[in-house]
Amino acid sequence: MRPTTLLVLAAAVAAVVSACSFSSSTSAPPSDAWGSVDLVSPQDENPDPNVLEVRIDAAEITKSYAGGAPAKVWAYNGTVPGPLLDVKVGDRVIVHFSNHLPEPTTIHWHGVRVPAAMDGTLMMQSPIPPGGTFDYDFTVKDAGFFWFHPHVQGDSQVRKGLYGALRVRGRDEPTVDHEALLMLGDITVQPDGTISDYLDDTSRMMGREGKTLLVNGRAEPTLPVRAGSLQRLRFVNVANGRFFNLAAPGVRWRVIGTDGGFLPQPYDADHLLIAPGERYDVVFVPSGPPDSEIVLLDDPYDRGHDSAGEPSLPLAKLHVTAEHPLDGRALPDRFPEIERLPDGVVDRKITLAEGLANGEVTFTIDGAAYPDVPLWDVAKGSVERILFENASEMDHPMHLHGVFFQLLESGGVAVAPSSLANKDTIIVPKKGSLKVVARFEEPGNWAYHCHILEHAEYGMLGEIRVR
Ligand code: C2O
Ligand code: CU
Repeated sequence: MRPTTLLVLAAAVAAVVSACSFSSSTSAPPSDAWGSVDLVSPQDENPDPNVLEVRIDAAEITKSYAGGAPAKVWAYNGTVPGPLLDVKVGDRVIVHFSNHLPEPTTIHWHGVRVPAAMDGTLMMQSPIPPGGTFDYDFTVKDAGFFWFHPHVQGDSQVRKGLYGALRVRGRDEPTVDHEALLMLGDITVQPDGTISDYLDDTSRMMGREGKTLLVNGRAEPTLPVRAGSLQRLRFVNVANGRFFNLAAPGVRWRVIGTDGGFLPQPYDADHLLIAPGERYDVVFVPSGPPDSEIVLLDDPYDRGHDSAGEPSLPLAKLHVTAEHPLDGRALPDRFPEIERLPDGVVDRKITLAEGLANGEVTFTIDGAAYPDVPLWDVAKGSVERILFENASEMDHPMHLHGVFFQLLESGGVAVAPSSLANKDTIIVPKKGSLKVVARFEEPGNWAYHCHILEHAEYGMLGEIRVR
């Protein structure tokens, strides 16, 4: 046998072995543990390896942040963040949900292509009253890092702590030494331990920003990394208003995925700008002497109305351990192609603006605030080009429910074919425009809105009817 044949054979055996080990288990790989910021997976009550069946209860709990006094927060299954649901493509997810909060609520599965009746919006579901229950039941079609949160009074409920993670593994997961899911948020706890719903003018304009930055519910955690190891970090921004402009001096991220899964062509970046709702999946190899630190920072970014004046804030510290450095780790540089959506047959234009109504700031879509935003009627199967024009002085991260979309143009300039990506939330820059394409396959009524939750709550939300 010639050496090349041997190599091919070895690769084939390895492929079979990894395929088997993948399909026989829905649990996270052993490399997952990161102590203080690990998310908790609820018990799977279903013996079928292709079904995850869990209970999620929403209730008020007390939790202290950054060593402060106990705060009254709202939690799924008693933790903030809530649970991590860990599944693989094609699995069925059944969630028996109970609402023990004093307010009605729902669960929206952000980015997951579920049937409309499972999407948790009031367009398709009555709010679950205090003491009420609801069973969410859907099959996951796409690999990626998704999250879930209420879609009733989102600006108040998400901020109080209601958010959790859904990780869907696919066939093309890279082999890494360590992987972590990091939910980035912020909070301000009042001296009396409450999370205030008060909305001052700045918060109404910019979305509420908390004073304490959180990584999986912890302020400035220290996380161990081994020099030379291949690290995979998957970020989601769960904050109401804050954009995270992530950097770690000395680190260049290789961006391998975003909202809707892997990028066929990864790219390298020093900063990751993550707006509320967005996800970024990156790999990097930490270096540095034993016991040195790599600081993860939220750098200033001007999202409008002179918001760039803030200092760089520390988010977490990566502590380089004393272990012997690993070597020879290579960053993945290709993932399988994803389907490029056809060019689209229908053109839509959506204008985003801010205005005043009765002396209050409002956020509008085509001149109207929800529920007066004109309904957008779409034929099932239709592929549409949507031009978002942002007439306002600030960025709006627009989120479409039920679909992924692909960016075609930014400011009238076509994007490079190599940056093909499936997104569900995207920053429409201040005084700028974006053109995206989406295919609407799932019938029902779907929301689209700005993911600055105060903007969605005060008008910048519309409805798409697919039939
Ligand atoms: Cu993550 Cu309609 O929301
Ligand atoms: Cu907005």
